[in-house]
Amino acid sequence: MFSNLPSPQQDPILSLSLAYRQDQRDKKIDLGIGVYRNSDGVTPVMDSIQKAEQIVLNDQETKAYVGMAGDEEFNAAALNLVLPDSGITERAISVQTPGASGGLRMLAELISFSSPGATIWLSNPSYVNHQPVMEAAGLKVKHYRYFEANSKQVDVNAMLDDLSKAGAKDVVLLHGCCHNPTGADLTHEAWKQVTLLAQKNGFLPFIDIAYQGFGDGLAQDAFGVQHMAANLPELLVTSSCSKNFGLYRERTGSAIVVADQKNHAMNARGKLLQMARSTYTMPPAHGASIVKTVLLDKELKSSWMTELEQMRLRLVSLRQQLCSELATKTNSEDFEFIKQHKGMFSVLGFSAEQMIRLREEFAVYGVNDGRINIAGLMEQDLTYVATAIAAVR
Ligand code: LMR
Repeated sequence: MFSNLPSPQQDPILSLSLAYRQDQRDKKIDLGIGVYRNSDGVTPVMDSIQKAEQIVLNDQETKAYVGMAGDEEFNAAALNLVLPDSGITERAISVQTPGASGGLRMLAELISFSSPGATIWLSNPSYVNHQPVMEAAGLKVKHYRYFEANSKQVDVNAMLDDLSKAGAKDVVLLHGCCHNPTGADLTHEAWKQVTLLAQKNGFLPFIDIAYQGFGDGLAQDAFGVQHMAANLPELLVTSSCSKNFGLYRERTGSAIVVADQKNHAMNARGKLLQMARSTYTMPPAHGASIVKTVLLDKELKSSWMTELEQMRLRLVSLRQQLCSELATKTNSEDFEFIKQHKGMFSVLGFSAEQMIRLREEFAVYGVNDGRINIAGLMEQDLTYVATAIAAVR
């Protein structure tokens, strides 16, 4: 049965973590996979999360099944985090998914079921797993221009030009904030322009928001989601608790459908639950119990928000420090764009060959598409990393 299978292909991000672990050099720096590390190089369990986890463990009376949609209190709280306006949540549903990757696949399948063979437009570049997930669900993938190589910012005119070709049967995938991999985000004005185009052409926006709280702030980062939900009849959203709650391995995410009316949203929910039943039946409970405990408790929520804001501000500071080290090493302002980027990542504009040189000559691990994880930097490594980048530029 298995003799015709092709040999396995390596995932461009996950394979880096393995290569990093196997690297025997004393000085090595992992700027590959998107996890936050503190100044000791540790991905911490946040204090508020530890407290909530203790409450969950103390209060837990059973391990009996939850429903196919996961924890309904979590679903309401997670929906409220991206869409606090009750007028919109009236016509929206949210189901808990095994990570936001699970949510991406579920919503892609929902599109595929509702409109077989539909086209989804991805930014060029986009998160490396977007295209495989969409294609696995049977969707056709097209790309719209997004990142301008010289300025390292979003080329909004080129983006709008390409998206003007997206029609009423098409879906357009957008990054809610902290664009992965580039770090270049849409301004409020650009969000409004894309929304106007969606109104005019009728395409369905699908927003992947995996880094809420790491860009401009928890509320500010949801601007795009909220603006589109308020001004369009339909919207798809996946949200993740991996980064902002630090729950990576607990696989805690949401698939959200905003529809023109509640009963259409409920039909979408029914289909999502049927899909859950025919794949994993129900999502893992632990992460969602923790998030719910945090979000429903005033004090825990406020400490979590403080911790998240501290992480965000540290990222801003790391960006500034890396920029100034790079300015010294290169005697130029060529890397100033790193300061303007948002969230965990920045694309350096390096070729795959240059990224391989960073790895082979300096043991600095970034993704071959030129992405580095700023959140993986320790303050003590900034000079070394800047020296490496300056050497291969
Ligand atoms: C990343 O982009 O590094 C993260 O979202 C981790 C992943 O699953 O790829």
